[in-house]
This record gives sequence, structure tokens and C-alpha cells, in this order.
Amino acid sequence: MGKEQNLIIGLDIGTTKICAMVGELNPQTEEVEIIGVGTYPSFGLKRGVVVNIENTIQSVKNAVEEAEHMAGCEIRTVFVGIAGGHIKGISGHGMITIREREVARRDLDRVIESANAVLIPADREIIHVIPQEYIVDGQAGIKDPVGIYGIKLETKVHIVTGQVTAAQNLVKCIHGAGMDVADVVLEQLASSEAVLTEDEKEIGVVLIDCGGGTTDIAIFVGGSIRYTENVTLGGDNIDRDIALGLSTPLAEARKIKEKHGTALAELVSPEEEIEVPSVGGKHFRKVSRKDLAMVIEPRMEEIFALAKTEIQKSGYAELVPAGVVITGGSVIMNGTVELSERVLEMPVRMGIPTAVGGLTDIIANPVYSTGVGLVMYGAGYTGDKKLRIRDENVFKKIFDSMKNWFQEFF
Ligand SMILES: Nc1ncnc2c1ncn2[C@@H]1O[C@H](COP(=O)(O)OP(=O)(O)OP(=O)(O)O)[C@@H](O)[C@H]1O
Ligand SMILES: [Mg+2]
Repeated sequence: MGKEQNLIIGLDIGTTKICAMVGELNPQTEEVEIIGVGTYPSFGLKRGVVVNIENTIQSVKNAVEEAEHMAGCEIRTVFVGIAGGHIKGISGHGMITIREREVARRDLDRVIESANAVLIPADREIIHVIPQEYIVDGQAGIKDPVGIYGIKLETKVHIVTGQVTAAQNLVKCIHGAGMDVADVVLEQLASSEAVLTEDEKEIGVVLIDCGGGTTDIAIFVGGSIRYTENVTLGGDNIDRDIALGLSTPLAEARKIKEKHGTALAELVSPEEEIEVPSVGGKHFRKVSRKDLAMVIEPRMEEIFALAKTEIQKSGYAELVPAGVVITGGSVIMNGTVELSERVLEMPVRMGIPTAVGGLTDIIANPVYSTGVGLVMYGAGYTGDKKLRIRDENVFKKIFDSMKNWFQEFF
């Protein structure tokens, strides 16, 4: 059995699949190696949110068991992803007086905590308070103010909140599967850790994680997260379109999409034919791959058009010269990069988790971005290590408050 203390486990509870990812931290190199992956179809979520506890617990157990088997370890505590239409990102601001006239590390905790004191409705809970920059006596844009003389310390933060009940249901599933939660992490924040480079985050970049149930967006400028949003459309909608458009069962529609789907119809020649089972399942019909693509393309177009609207609404559209990185299972489809570039009118690349070692050939797939990212987040993996370490107390405090409150509930 592996040593617990060096293992970091990410649990991506997605709408289409649940993925348990086991990372091993090498304390010498501070690098993470993925040593186990388990995936199992997800039957208990809708649009990124748990709607059936029992089904979710069962899938979690199956995914975790597979990962444990591969890694030769026992999984007890996980970093779990959260997503869905209930998630909201807002900007916040904190301000304190510097006690010793020189910024100390604990002042950073205090100032972030003061930003945390925003009024949020009783049915919502804070998931993250992420500092973007510090301001000392009006001097803005400071990344690490420790040691600087001053009187007033301010911080600009990005606050992510979610529905209390959605988070509770998520935690309930993990407890039900016999495990504890180390932290609840916004899914696109995790995916960002896995697929964005530090340079991209510094220059300005958009991440779009297009999964089965939701399409999650995160915008980074100047090395910090500035904006998070989501569009509650994903691969599931494409499956439904195909089922309707080609009169075939939903499960077949997904298979056909994954095997023969193309996001851009012009890339397919009309001569290519595929066999599509009918709804009764008795006979097959021949359909051209181009017709299939013509069902898929408008939905993919809609997803990226809605993402574009969100990017424009964010106010950061002109501040992201590094363009867009797309990830998640739905971007695997041929033609997705080309189509999204056309719709978004920005340069696009596909994001695949590559920054960690271990089972690299398995995890080099956009469906694993969130799982790998959760492990990296859990390991405190980020270009600016100092930033994470000094934030840890704050995260811990926030999490402790969440934990208390979970205990209250159960
Ligand atoms: N080869 C492929 N071609 C086309 N689509 C694919 C392929 N592989 C997976 N997909 C699609 O990707 C989607 C699943 O992606 P992903 O695993 O990122 O979603 P999820 O994490 O389960 O869902 P969400 O994040 O929305 O809750 C499904 O719609 C699936 O059909
Ligand atoms: Mg996902």
C-alpha cells in the first residue's frame, strides 16, 4: 500500500464520467507523477450537478476502486471538483491596516479574509477567494507585498461562490463512498492548472472546458484568475441532437459521435457513409458522415458563440492575446479547433495535460484535464509556489468553516 502522505487524489465528478486520479508527490523534486487512473460512467448528474446520490456513489466507488488497483494504494481523502450553472464568480476587495508598518505574511491572510466578508445570500457558500494583486498605500499591482513598508494594505480578489445544497450533495456522495474531502475546487480552475502555461496566464488567456453537461470558462490576466463563468451546454446536447436528427437511440448517438463525429462539416466528404441503428434497434441505415457533421456543427457553434458572449461580457476580451485553450472531452472531435477559432475570432489551441509525469500516455487526453488539475491543485502545483503556500492558511480556514458547516448539516 502506498504511503498516504505522498499521495494526492483528484476526483472529477463529471456529467458523463467519474474519474479518480492518483498522484504521487516526490518531495525532493516537488514533482507529481500520476500512478493510477480510474474512470467509470456517471449516471447521477445533470448539467454538472449531482441529482442522484446513490448512482453517483456507485460510480465514484467503481472509479476509485480501479484507481486504487492501478496505484496499489487505498484512497481516503480526495480533492473534488465542483461545477454547474449555480457557480458564480465575482470580484471582491479587502482592506486592512498594516499592524507593524511592514507587511507580514499573516497580514495577507487578514486582508484576504477581510475580502471574504462580502454579503452573500444564505443559500450560497464561498468556494474560493483567490488574490489577484495587492495594493500598499495606493501602489497597485504588487504580487508579493511581504516586507514592504506601508500603512494600508488592500487586495483585489476573485470570489467563487456556489449553491450550498449542490456542494453538500457532492460531499455527501464522497462520504457515502467512504472517503473524506480535502477541498472542493472549481473545475475550470483545476483544468487550468493542468493545461495552461504560466506564460499564457501572465499574458492573458481564456480556458474553455467543454464537457458532457457544461462548458466552463476561466480567464487569466497578469498571472491571476480574473473571471469564471459557465454555459450549461455540452456534449450531451450534441448526443440529443444526433438522436433526434438521425432517429437513433441516445446511447448509440453518443457512440456514433465519438467514433465518426466532426465539428466542421466542410472537412468531411459527402461520399463517406456510416451505419446508424434505428430507434427500434432492428435495422441499420446508411447516413453520410457529412450529414452527421451537419447535425453536430450548429450545436458546437452555439456553445462557442455563448462562450464568446461570456468572454465579451467579462470585459477581458481585449486583454487575452494568448488566445483560447480548449479542453474537455467534447473538444476531441475533429475540426473543433478550426470551428472554435472561427466563432471566437481568436487563436485556439487544444489543451492536454502534459506537465506531470507518470502515466503520461494515458492522461494525455482532454477528458483528464480536470482530474490531473485537481491533483496538481492539491499538490500546490503552480508556477508561483510562494503564492500558493501563503494562501494555504486562508484556504484552510475557508475549508474549515465549510467543514464545520457540513458537519452541522449531517
Ligand atoms: N472521441 C470523442 N469524440 C467526440 N466527443 C467525445 C469523444 N470522447 C469524449 N467525447 C465527449 O466528451 C464529453 C465528455 O467530456 P468530459 O469527460 O470532459 O465531460 P464530464 O467531465 O463528464 O462532464 P462535465 O464536465 O460537463 O460535467 C461527452 O459528451 C463525450 O461524448
Ligand atoms: Mg468535466
